Amino acid sequence: MPKPKLKPLIAGNWKMNGLRSAAKDLRQIANQLVKPPKAKADVLICPPAQLLWPFKEVVRGTPVRLGAQDCHVNVSGAHTGDISASMMADIGARAIIVGHSERRTDHGERNALVHQKAEAALGAGLMAIICVGETEAERDAGMAIRVISKQLKESVPAASTSKNTVVAYEPVWAIGTGRTPTSDDIQKAHKALRTRLQKRFGADGDRFRLLYGGSVKPANAVEILSIENVNGALVGGASLKAADFVPIVRAAG
Ligand code: PGA
Repeated sequence: MPKPKLKPLIAGNWKMNGLRSAAKDLRQIANQLVKPPKAKADVLICPPAQLLWPFKEVVRGTPVRLGAQDCHVNVSGAHTGDISASMMADIGARAIIVGHSERRTDHGERNALVHQKAEAALGAGLMAIICVGETEAERDAGMAIRVISKQLKESVPAASTSKNTVVAYEPVWAIGTGRTPTSDDIQKAHKALRTRLQKRFGADGDRFRLLYGGSVKPANAVEILSIENVNGALVGGASLKAADFVPIVRAAG
C-alpha cells in the first residue's frame, strides 16, 4: 500500500518570549505567508498564553493558526495559576503542546500527567501536540528508542487519532543548543514512532504527523523535512522572527 501523503505542519513554540509588542513579529510572519506561493504546510504559532487573544486579530485572514504551550488537566476549578484547555480554545487556540521537555524538567511532568493533558486538549476540541525525546545521557546509553517508545505509549491517549493528535520528536539535548542528530538518527527515531503508532492505531497510525524539533533553522530545514516520516517541525528560537520562520515554512514543500 502506498504511504498516505501528509500535509506538513510547521509549528512555532515561542516559549516564554513575547510582550504585546511582539504582534509586529507575528504580523510580519503572517503577511509574508499571505503572499504567494501558497504555503504547502499548516502553520501554527504557539505564543505565551496572554498573547493568544490579541494575536487572534493579527492572524485573521492569514494561513497562521494559534496554539498554546500547556494546559491544566481540568476544565475549571481551584487551581491557582493554571489555565484550562477550554480557556485556551475560548481565546483562539486550535492546538496545545503537551509534554514539552521544558515542562517535564521545570515542573516535573511525567508521562501520566502528559497523557491527562493531551486528553484535556482533545476534550476541548483542540489538537494535541505531544512531545517525546531522550536526554543526552539516555542517547549515550543507547536507550533513545526505548525512552521515546515508552513516552509515546504512556502519553498518547486512547482518544487520539491522526486528525486530533500530532507527535513531536524532540531530543532534549538538541533543544536550543544548535546541535541536531544526524539525519540517520532522526529517521530511525521517526521510524520507531511510526511503527508503534501503526501497531496501536492500525491504518490510522500511518496518518499521524510526526514533527521533528530541536535546533531547526533555515539552514537545516530542507534536509530535516525531507527525511522519511518527518511530517513537519516544531521550531523554538527560529519561530520568533519572520526572517527565520518563513523560510522554514517554505522548506516544507
Ligand atoms: P529550538 O526549540 O528550536 O529553539 O531548539 C525547539 C523546541 O523546544 O520546541
